[in-house]
Amino acid sequence: MSSTPPADRSTQLASRFTGDFVWGVATSAFQIEGAAQLDGRGDSIWDEFCRRPGAIRDGSNGDRACDHYHRFETDLDLIAALGITNYRFSISWPRVQPLGVGAWNEAGFAFYERLLAGLASRGIAAHVTLYHWDLPQALQAQGGWANRDTVRAFADYALEIARRFGDRLASLVTHNEPWVVATLGHEVGTFAPGTKSRGVAMRVAHHLLLSHGLAVRELRAAGCRVPLGIVLNQSPIHAATDSEADRAKMRLEDGRLVRWYMDPLLLGRYPEDVVAHLGADAPEVGAEDMALIAQPLDFIGINYYTRGLAVSGSSKDAAAPTTRPLTDMGWEIYPEGLSELLRRLHADYRLPPLYIMENGAAFRDQAIDGRVADAERIAYLEAHIASLADAKDAGVDVRGYFVWSLLDNFEWADGYSKRFGIVYVDYANEARIVKDSGFWYRDFLKAAR
Ligand code: FCB
Repeated sequence: MSSTPPADRSTQLASRFTGDFVWGVATSAFQIEGAAQLDGRGDSIWDEFCRRPGAIRDGSNGDRACDHYHRFETDLDLIAALGITNYRFSISWPRVQPLGVGAWNEAGFAFYERLLAGLASRGIAAHVTLYHWDLPQALQAQGGWANRDTVRAFADYALEIARRFGDRLASLVTHNEPWVVATLGHEVGTFAPGTKSRGVAMRVAHHLLLSHGLAVRELRAAGCRVPLGIVLNQSPIHAATDSEADRAKMRLEDGRLVRWYMDPLLLGRYPEDVVAHLGADAPEVGAEDMALIAQPLDFIGINYYTRGLAVSGSSKDAAAPTTRPLTDMGWEIYPEGLSELLRRLHADYRLPPLYIMENGAAFRDQAIDGRVADAERIAYLEAHIASLADAKDAGVDVRGYFVWSLLDNFEWADGYSKRFGIVYVDYANEARIVKDSGFWYRDFLKAAR
């Protein structure tokens, strides 16, 4: 790192963005809300998954999480105090529709009414995600995303949210990271619902994309004026070595992570090499499906954390492919991958405007005398924002950036063992402590205005 003082560095970095660039912070419902059994909320697949012995590393669950359901006013005060004017959060489907079809839960809607009112009164724009992985368990009992009927159920849920809240939203995202839902949830099985079948996973991926397309089409037909998009986790994939085996693996992983989602959304077709590779595990595609998926989009959200390294079976015993530092997730810190990814997408597709909807890192933060000195997170954020500026300079139309996450929270299969927040949460008493990175972001945003 250069010897320029931090404040000057922030000013320099901020000057690489125009004043209308959207800066924000992100969370998701299951990871922070808690109140899992309160006010008529139904079970989600994550409540169910947490009950499976061994599924969650620390044996925890989302029953209390950050207790945001009760503490949202003071959490919004924190966002406001840090000068953050855009907040991305998700709506818990089983809180507003406990069974995923049929009756709506007014007490659930009332919570989001209070949240939206709290944001409006503080001048914070609301960016809502409809599906951040918490499918109503009652739908899972009918096959979940592997059942094509869930596509219709999701579109109905989307329409109801837009009908009630559409006049107060800055953006609306259908799905967060369909790759994770399909692959980790249904092929690897480390995320809810814990299925282990590649064929099911690819059917799920197809249905997620269909539900996105159907929701977007029907939202527009219903007159919804909110900018509509989808959020994809994306990474450049590099071959660990020059071997043909590693390079073939790289093409396949790129096909499954990047092209499997970008191609249908933007080109209206699945990548042929991946379809061929999947063989009998490739999804059944109806005659109208691809046209439905390829709805025009107002934006695409990108979540970026690290690059991917393709290591084939034959080179697995070779020396470790990276010498870079890792985050507490074991993810390589690779900031230039963000710019590389964005430039590649810009070259390969006709993109709508892009937003970085998540970027951040877990480190082993400790609160000592009321302070959390997380210099590594500051360096991570600074380096990734600089990489984003490089992509902008190269002509990529990227209009916003959201830090993951506002709070330390329930990190899925890792439970509460991984801390991503710019605000520290003491789970013993739910106290919040703004980390040094939170203050850094505040000062950076001041410079960016
Ligand atoms: C993303 C998820 C988000 C969070 C971060 C660390 O895949 O969208 O909920 O868990 O990773």
